[in-house]
Amino acid sequence: MDKFVIEGGAPLRGTVQVSGAKNSALPLMACALLADGPSTIRRLPDLADVRTMARLLRKLGAKVNGPSGQAVIDPKGVNLFEAPYELVKTMRASVLVLGPLLARFGHAKISLPGGCAIGARPIDQHLKGLEALGAQIAFEHGYVEAKAKSLKGTIFTFDVQTVTGTENVLMAAALAKGKTTLRNCACEPEIVQLADALRLMGVGVEGAGTQTIEVEGVSSLKPFLIDVIPDRIEAGTLLVAGALGKGPVRVEGAVREHLEAIVEKLVEAGARIEDSPGALTVSADDGFKGVNIKTQEFPGFATDMQAQFMSLLACARGSSVLTETIFENRFIHVPELVRLGAKISVDGRTAVIEGVKKLSGAPVMATDLRASASLVLAGLIAEGKTEVLRIYHLDRGYERLEKKLSALGARIERTKMEGV
Ligand code: EPZ
Repeated sequence: MDKFVIEGGAPLRGTVQVSGAKNSALPLMACALLADGPSTIRRLPDLADVRTMARLLRKLGAKVNGPSGQAVIDPKGVNLFEAPYELVKTMRASVLVLGPLLARFGHAKISLPGGCAIGARPIDQHLKGLEALGAQIAFEHGYVEAKAKSLKGTIFTFDVQTVTGTENVLMAAALAKGKTTLRNCACEPEIVQLADALRLMGVGVEGAGTQTIEVEGVSSLKPFLIDVIPDRIEAGTLLVAGALGKGPVRVEGAVREHLEAIVEKLVEAGARIEDSPGALTVSADDGFKGVNIKTQEFPGFATDMQAQFMSLLACARGSSVLTETIFENRFIHVPELVRLGAKISVDGRTAVIEGVKKLSGAPVMATDLRASASLVLAGLIAEGKTEVLRIYHLDRGYERLEKKLSALGARIERTKMEGV
């Protein structure tokens, strides 16, 4: 197992490139199952989760050429409609093949994803939406099975705004007979890109990016060619790193309207952000002041940026209150930050951070994707050496982060853990 070894305190400056968005690449790869020929997805990030999705699609019988930088996915050979436990347990986004398999082949069997570190993360809304389109849903031996001779357009309102739930039901509605109206949809930019792909495939989709999406179903979908949008969470993580390293750091690919809430909080805390075409440049030379944050669905402050921002607030002047409204257990990084000297107390979904003068390096353990990013950021400013163990969590969602940070001046390297 790899670990990162970081010597804190190095100033960061220069230019860094954002990779393609993991949370857009995954639904786009699943969406390729709907096409009646090979689709091409470019600007794919080189991530463990993307490779897992490619493995799943191959297991279903699709031909996947890639995914290094780009993937050509041909669903012609699909002859299995089941996402097995061993794949789903490593990546819950495997559930994204449910809607496309059901809509295209009339049958899908997916291992229930089970809980994960940050919360129960049920898929009841995915199933309710598919049922509204006419699917019969059954549960057996830890699997959910969906069947439908054909799907019929309907009007459906989600009880909660769910990103992959919206994506699953949207993809199924593309092959439903007639019109579907989906209400209380999630509004993330990744859903807008999925709708762009469906339009390229010949589906009429209006309203993606708002809470109401209208879909005109079709009887068959053409293949698509698309470039994955930049990863707004990686961009946000790099902006926080640049602020911590004083900068200026130019984050190429950062899209301001995908990051509005993050940028506003960075500026409120004392960073300076400059816009230029296709990039945001961050600098911060006199530290930060504490700010209060409440995570919300897009366009609010992204839950996926909560852990990273906490590392910045750990050394801000004064205190900050951080409320996590999306997941019930997304403070697992707190005890690890406390090992580095942070002063943070947690009560349910609220964390109070008392800024300290400095953090001091220590070995810490990554527990989930964004928690691992927050520990890397804290290591960049902690005095002395920080080791971040179990870095495989980070590799699920960040493409060679240590290379990007060391190119900016960070003293960080990836090493093999002795004996494991
Ligand atoms: C997506 O997960 C992202 N993953 C997550 O990113 C992100 O944290 C999350 O959206 C919220 O923005 C991908 O896009 C692959 P949700 P998803 O369904 O779709 C509840 C990362 O770090 N809910 O929007 O699984 C759920 O429990 C990952 O890249 C139901 O109750 O999240 C949660 O409280 C982590 N029933 C809330 O909705 C359902 O059927 C939002 O979850 C579905 C969700």
